[in-house]
Amino acid sequence: MDRKFARITLDPDFQISRIDKRIYGSFVEHLGRAVYGGVYQPGHPSADEEGFRKDVLDLVREIGVPIVRYPGGNFVSNYFWEDGVGPVAERPRRLELAWRSTETNEVGVNEFARWAKKAGTDLMMAVNLGTRGIDAACNLLEYCNHPSGTKYSDMRVAHGVKEPHNIKTWCLGNEMDGPWQVGHKTAREYGRLADETAKALRQIDPSIELVACGSSNTGMPSYPQWEASVLEEAYDSVDYISLHTYYGNPDNDTRNFLARSDDMDYFIRTVTSTCDFVKAKKRAKKNIMLSFDEWNVWFHSNESDNDAMANRPWSVAPHLLEDRYTFEDALLVGLMLITLMKHSDRVRMACLAQLVNVIAPIMTEENGPAWKQTIYYPYLHASKYGRGIALNPALRSSRHDTKDFSGVTDVESVAVWNDEKEEITVFAVNRDLEESIVLETDLRGFPGYVLQEHIVLEHEEFKAANSPAAQAVSPKIATDRDQREGDILKSRLSPASWNVIRLGKA
Ligand code: AHR
Repeated sequence: MDRKFARITLDPDFQISRIDKRIYGSFVEHLGRAVYGGVYQPGHPSADEEGFRKDVLDLVREIGVPIVRYPGGNFVSNYFWEDGVGPVAERPRRLELAWRSTETNEVGVNEFARWAKKAGTDLMMAVNLGTRGIDAACNLLEYCNHPSGTKYSDMRVAHGVKEPHNIKTWCLGNEMDGPWQVGHKTAREYGRLADETAKALRQIDPSIELVACGSSNTGMPSYPQWEASVLEEAYDSVDYISLHTYYGNPDNDTRNFLARSDDMDYFIRTVTSTCDFVKAKKRAKKNIMLSFDEWNVWFHSNESDNDAMANRPWSVAPHLLEDRYTFEDALLVGLMLITLMKHSDRVRMACLAQLVNVIAPIMTEENGPAWKQTIYYPYLHASKYGRGIALNPALRSSRHDTKDFSGVTDVESVAVWNDEKEEITVFAVNRDLEESIVLETDLRGFPGYVLQEHIVLEHEEFKAANSPAAQAVSPKIATDRDQREGDILKSRLSPASWNVIRLGKA
């Protein structure tokens, strides 16, 4: 056997879980140019009659984003949802404390729900548990989901929205463990508030699903005790706990950077164990599921944003968090998507944070087109081909150590069996930066399945990036990489590459 090797075995009995398509969700926050100048820009040549950019809508629809978290993020903890409904001319401008911006409220819940409909996506709505509480959350739910005949449902009807929005998924605040959060709370304070808010919301609409805030990241001093304390208060009244993580490569160590999805894997396993610990303590029957509702690479813009936030005047839709993603960032995003699929038995929702302009796969030019960042592609592939049953590929791979991680597999992989379409997609990243590795896929469990196409994202420069003018990093169909020997498909994975190997019935 080669020094570097990778082997997977696909079998219909090795099922992790049927994937909830919402793990391919995303996030739009009132932050920077995500909303204003991103999804909404009246006057832009591509804007529709409601001011939504059609070029952005086309790209969102191409990905097939199943759910979008809205309106924050840190933004939500100081948000007055009432400011964003009713006649636009009468809506107030507000100081937005999370991102030191001016919020015009031109877009609010009704406009965003209209946008979501056009984008073919569902909404995951967050409520303000920072500066506000149970009453504001209840009023918003009544406004959104109650048919009519009450103060807030009739207000919605008076605002021209006859049918309720019927939003099913609700986040109980955002990152309440973070000292940066407006209205930051201790775990006990938050756990009690989340529990009482959840109970009241369920009285208004028992069909909703509720997400409690977990830790903002694993570096928080209160992690993972926060999760345990919050669930001790709110276990019975919530369905999900949230996870957030962002990775970066500030010290330019690509091998170490590409191992960071192992940290995400450990994070998911730890939170799952914490949920199950509280379950056991409470003698509970139900499982708490995981909503990984913020994840991405985020570090390129940190320095300039810190400066801008400290030194610039309040302004509308400033350029913030506009990370320009590289090829290596796309590889880590692919690895993180593989990790989410591998944990699809417990992770039922996840949001690539975010969708447009703000740490985003889609960028817009103010006077030009919308364009695709490098990370657009793994996200597109996962959402498009990652629907079905996640299979444990029983991966065996040679391994390496990095600065922060040991025993890192050279190849990381998962397979998804779309049993309706009779297709299998193998997602695989070669984390070796210098050598090609042959991935051997044992297909004896799937007689009759043959290779359809092998899509690859590869580039000689780890720091290569896309721009409005050029898609330097974009996928291609590889025709020279795969060879069938009996039940074994041998696929050559080029060094540092994202591979989507699609199989179907002959
Ligand atoms: O996604 C950007 C920010 O990251 C969100 O507002 C916040 O929840 C997180 O810290």
